[in-house]
Amino acid sequence: MIRKVSIALGALALAGGIVAASASDDPIASRKAMMKNTGASIGVMGKMAKGEMPFDAVQANLAMRAINNAAIGVVHLFPAGSETGGDTEAAPKIWEDMAGFVEKAKAMEDVTADAIAFPAASLDDLKEQLGKLGGTCKGCHEGYRIKKS
Ligand code: HEC
Repeated sequence: MIRKVSIALGALALAGGIVAASASDDPIASRKAMMKNTGASIGVMGKMAKGEMPFDAVQANLAMRAINNAAIGVVHLFPAGSETGGDTEAAPKIWEDMAGFVEKAKAMEDVTADAIAFPAASLDDLKEQLGKLGGTCKGCHEGYRIKKS
């Protein structure tokens, strides 16, 4: 069982790496895809929290790992020249205050790294982690994303 889990995690890390590696040719599409994946990952954990899906420690851990990967990679997908186009919702503030933006990503990285190091063993643990994680999404979107729809 433990072996199976580590194989699954390895495959996921690899998949995340591929997303990051394909970044440079279209940073806007890549960061949107990364954020969509992040939304899907938190969505799975949200379903567990709402009782729409049974608590599954492995799935929760995989979701945290995917988001951690995004937190590390995503800040590199906002190069100069990608401020507009591709239906981006990125706010100009990202380029005016890159240090602040990086800090917001670091918050998401730290919360997920904690959740990976101390995996949720129960639904209550997961709910606590999700509360912290959700705060980091909001913390960045509030200032650095202009939602169009
Ligand atoms: C460091 C800042 C930052 C953090 C942290 C962050 N986001 Fe985002 N997010 C953005 C930005 C900027 C965009 C807009 C990107 C664009 O359109 O170019 C975005 C867009 C999105 C989108 C829309 C993607 C699309 O289809 O265009 C989703 C979904 C999303 N984020 C989910 C999340 C979730 C869930 C979290 C927390 C687990 C999170 N984000 C954390 C900055 C952040």
